[in-house]
Amino acid sequence: MEINYKVENNVAIISWNMTTSPMNVMNDISIPEFEGHLEKAYADSEVKGIIITSEKNEFIAGADVKMILRNNGKDQSEMHKFSLDFNAIFRKLETCGKPVVAAMNGTALGGGYEVCLSCHYRIALDNPKAVIGLPEVQLGLLPGGGGTQRLPRLIGMEAALMLMVEGKRISPKEALGYGMVNDIAATRGEMMEKAMKWILANPKAIQPWDEFDKKTGAIKARENFKVPGGNVQSPTGMRTFAGGTAMIMDKTKGNYPAPIAILSCVYEGLQVNMDRAIPIEARYFVKVATSREAKNLIGVMFLGKNEADKGASRPKDIPATDVKKLGILGAGFMGAGIAYVSAMAGIEVVLKDITVEAAEKGKDYSRGLVQKGIERGKTTADKGEKLLSLIKPTAEVADLQGCDLIIEAVFENRELKATVTKEAEPMLVEGGVFGSNTSTIPITGLAKASAKPENFIGIHFFSPVDKMMLVELIRGKQTSDYAVALAVDFVKKIRKTPIVVNDSRGFYTSRCFSTYTTEGIALLKDGVDPVLIENAGKNAGMPVGALAVSDEVALDLALKISKQSIADGALSEEDGAYQVTKMMVEDLGRFGKKNKKGFYEYPEGRKKHLWEGLAEYFPVAETQPDVEEVKKRLLYRQVVECIRCFDEGVLMTKLDGNIGSILAWGFPPYAGGTLNFPEFVGKETFLKEVDRLADTYGERFRLTEKQKELVRNL
Ligand code: NAI
Repeated sequence: MEINYKVENNVAIISWNMTTSPMNVMNDISIPEFEGHLEKAYADSEVKGIIITSEKNEFIAGADVKMILRNNGKDQSEMHKFSLDFNAIFRKLETCGKPVVAAMNGTALGGGYEVCLSCHYRIALDNPKAVIGLPEVQLGLLPGGGGTQRLPRLIGMEAALMLMVEGKRISPKEALGYGMVNDIAATRGEMMEKAMKWILANPKAIQPWDEFDKKTGAIKARENFKVPGGNVQSPTGMRTFAGGTAMIMDKTKGNYPAPIAILSCVYEGLQVNMDRAIPIEARYFVKVATSREAKNLIGVMFLGKNEADKGASRPKDIPATDVKKLGILGAGFMGAGIAYVSAMAGIEVVLKDITVEAAEKGKDYSRGLVQKGIERGKTTADKGEKLLSLIKPTAEVADLQGCDLIIEAVFENRELKATVTKEAEPMLVEGGVFGSNTSTIPITGLAKASAKPENFIGIHFFSPVDKMMLVELIRGKQTSDYAVALAVDFVKKIRKTPIVVNDSRGFYTSRCFSTYTTEGIALLKDGVDPVLIENAGKNAGMPVGALAVSDEVALDLALKISKQSIADGALSEEDGAYQVTKMMVEDLGRFGKKNKKGFYEYPEGRKKHLWEGLAEYFPVAETQPDVEEVKKRLLYRQVVECIRCFDEGVLMTKLDGNIGSILAWGFPPYAGGTLNFPEFVGKETFLKEVDRLADTYGERFRLTEKQKELVRNL
């Protein structure tokens, strides 16, 4: 039994309590059982009303996405039938002639909240952990259980569209404010009591969008139901749709079909009655649910990321480890961030810098974030105090005694890193691990300073540490499975997503991400208008233009890395991007954002804009390429480099490659990450394009036959 059924005081209580799944979800097992219970309640003349609730902490977390993924790429008619059958349950529920109340004891998302929407009344328990909403859009879907039709009819079009298009999850109190729930209860007992009372007081409950046929006494759906706040064709409605479309297109660049489909559903659906509106929603639902974008968002961003979060790349057969005491060397920008996220997870942190003042300054970063959290109601003074008490700022190496893990985040300098490694390593407990947060220096070389290179590993955080979810773990040649396992366990403990890669110049993320910036700069060298370069990058789904991000990273740093690559024989002096960067730094003194002069100008108090002087040094060609061609160069270049990483064994799994590319540098999630990209565009099409790009723009796009075979097997 997944869902319990009992009758109390002539009210059927249908209570979700799934045993086959850790959370209550709507799936092949629970849906038929739920429907069976409802049918029993409809048929029992003793039953005067129905309460739907749950015995778990959550109400219903949503529909099981695996069920949707199974139908992706298949015949649409199967999905369409499923959708209509699913909706028939909800429609029958709201027209059953008996009052139905949702007693929402906890989280009600997606299909879970759609159950509530088809009830006549909703009472939420004031559960601080509960979130309510229709977040389907984040998975490339739309609310397919009538949500796009019932929510606007309940709370008005404008609010409903905003909540669905953004996929917002809100607290029960906020939901009360929007009218998404009708009442709030402080305890479970009070919630059930209120539900019972409402049923007694409303024996003939129907939805506002349905009405009785006075002659037959049956429920008849109303045409032209007045939507709170204005109908679709009212001036407000038209404004909402026009503004909404523009806003969505600006944000998604047309790369994500779901938000526009939500708009269409609401627009078309609100002009007809509920019975006709449901098939409209089903039609759009099937379209988005069978799209490539939904497949990637569900398969990679949701299920794949969950797998990575659980430590998919953790070496097997190593017993669980637990970092209780962490040492951090360097309380600068990165060290301070690592201290904060670790203390958040309850880890005792020793934050060491050259002076106590510098270490205290690092701790100030946590003080600031705690203060902000208190002001925004995200934490309490007590919790903040507890977090801060876990961070001990110091200048003494001896304070590191007993650490399970030490991470160095001192300046990016080999000698300094070697010195601090030698100094701090003896303070580790037996079996303790030493990690380096270096962003560029190969781990195998750094491990030479260690007395135990098998316990030395790269632990590469991204900035800002509290916001960036990925941590790239880098195995040096001698790093043991044990050290990797401990690092993965640590990353899981601080609630970030680990990927594990092998040592290489720039590891995986910096190496591949830099191809985006260098291709942007190469385009400039080829005479492409910088405005086109920046827009094409953003239109392709990258979060920031290639030139803007080059400025952020700093051009002098990029030049330093390029020079090192030339010295190592990995790059030619003829490289276009290298020549542009060299000129920008050495001839023009333009280092990027840090000296307020780069490809962009950074005027005080005003928005940055592309530097007008660029055209003088990098003339814009008479004929400009098509935007699609520019997008291709920017995306394909990154993908080709990732395929090389996979081929060379820097990347060990497709999952790490995809998740890493999305979380580290924002490779477009709709495409499912870099290693999924060939499948997204079609593998053979991709391979043909790669050859063409290599023939046209250079060998940096070339894949070997072996690499092409690898793509076919990805
Ligand atoms: P930072 O300059 O903000 O901080 C470095 C800190 O190390 C300073 O507070 C300095 O006083 C301290 N330090 C120097 N010698 C020390 C010693 N002997 N013992 C203890 N502390 C000492 O540098 P940031 O940006 O935090 O970078 C640190 C490391 O993280 C570098 O290896 C960098 O490449 C890497 N990294 C930086 C990222 C970034 O976005 N800034 C991203 C990922 C990695």
